[in-house]
Amino acid sequence: MNSDTSALFAPIDINGHAVKNRFSVAPMTRITATEDGRATETMTRYYERFARGGFGTVITEGIYVDQAFSQGYVHQPGMTDDVQANAWKSVVRGIKAHGALAIAQLMHAGALAQGNRFRDATVGPSSVQPKGEQMKFYHGKDRYALPAPMTETQIADAIGSFAASAARAVVMAGFDGIEIHGANGYLLDQFLTDYSNTRSDRWGGATENRLRLILETFNAVRAKVGDQIPVGVRISQGKVNDYHHKWSGAERDAEIIFGSLADAGADFIHVTEFEAWQPAFAPRGPSLMHLAKRYAPKATIFANGSLHTIERAVDALNDGADIVTIGRGALANPDLPKRLSDRRVLDDFDPTILGPVADIKASELAM
Ligand SMILES: Cc1cc2nc3c(=O)[nH]c(=O)nc-3n(C[C@H](O)[C@H](O)[C@H](O)COP(=O)(O)O)c2cc1C
Repeated sequence: MNSDTSALFAPIDINGHAVKNRFSVAPMTRITATEDGRATETMTRYYERFARGGFGTVITEGIYVDQAFSQGYVHQPGMTDDVQANAWKSVVRGIKAHGALAIAQLMHAGALAQGNRFRDATVGPSSVQPKGEQMKFYHGKDRYALPAPMTETQIADAIGSFAASAARAVVMAGFDGIEIHGANGYLLDQFLTDYSNTRSDRWGGATENRLRLILETFNAVRAKVGDQIPVGVRISQGKVNDYHHKWSGAERDAEIIFGSLADAGADFIHVTEFEAWQPAFAPRGPSLMHLAKRYAPKATIFANGSLHTIERAVDALNDGADIVTIGRGALANPDLPKRLSDRRVLDDFDPTILGPVADIKASELAM
């Protein structure tokens, strides 16, 4: 192996936590929890395979944070009480047994909720019809509901629920770190996005105001879990219901967003684009991972988006990423780091795994 690829297998430290290499599993919702949101034995086996296969970090699927408006999908796991937190223990144990860092992704679906057993209605920053249609492979159909604009109390409750869930994830379930889902069109990204947030109060308007919910959520989580726990935020331009969205402030928005997260003390920032290496804005301009590193040089940058080949992964490390996160490539190759290290060929991702619904299949557990 030449020196370039060896960088992928070099350890890195995230806020005092040793990570053995630069490969992470990307967060992937697989709707395999019980109906009341408890992680299952199938999930334990599913996640354990990635750690056994050499991934240095495993980020879970998005976990909902309250018993109000946050749940997005039927059979999504939650972290809203002791029962749900305890159910994660064996998943975490399985990940850690192979020396991988276990990170819980916490999310609030907001206006994109399409299967919430606690509420029939949805909330968001503003009463704006979400683009696109619900995801069929998560049991959705037709358009999203029109959300009600969140009140100050509802916003404060949502922030508090992220913090309380983060504490449960760390103290009860045993997770090493927390990723706050600020990307992909869910609640925190709905606030960040100009067209879904038309508020005229301190939560809307300028980019700094639209970013406020992400920062306040980060600060609340940090205050709850303390300085020793890696806490980061996932950020994207594209959304599950709007793939091609671009920040209207372009690079200036990137500076505000990544710079503010750095100032807040984010241990890591996880950026995702369809193809991570593409210019984020203007042709031939810098990628989003490059801008994240530029404006948050001390944070560990996780980069995501079609990075499963060794060449792409190496290039990402040279373009600002510290860790690459792998989604579909990990579903096809739960042992992807071992395969790349051994120079074995990768299997292609087979999208039928995610149909007709995206639950974990028995065939995957045999891999
Ligand atoms: C089945 C599936 C479920 C996903 N669920 C989540 C999720 O819960 N949270 C999240 O941030 N991203 C989620 N994503 C997006 C992935 O983390 C990742 O961004 C995407 O797969 C692109 O990376 P890739 O090119 O390596 O596949 C999901 C992707 C897939 C394929």
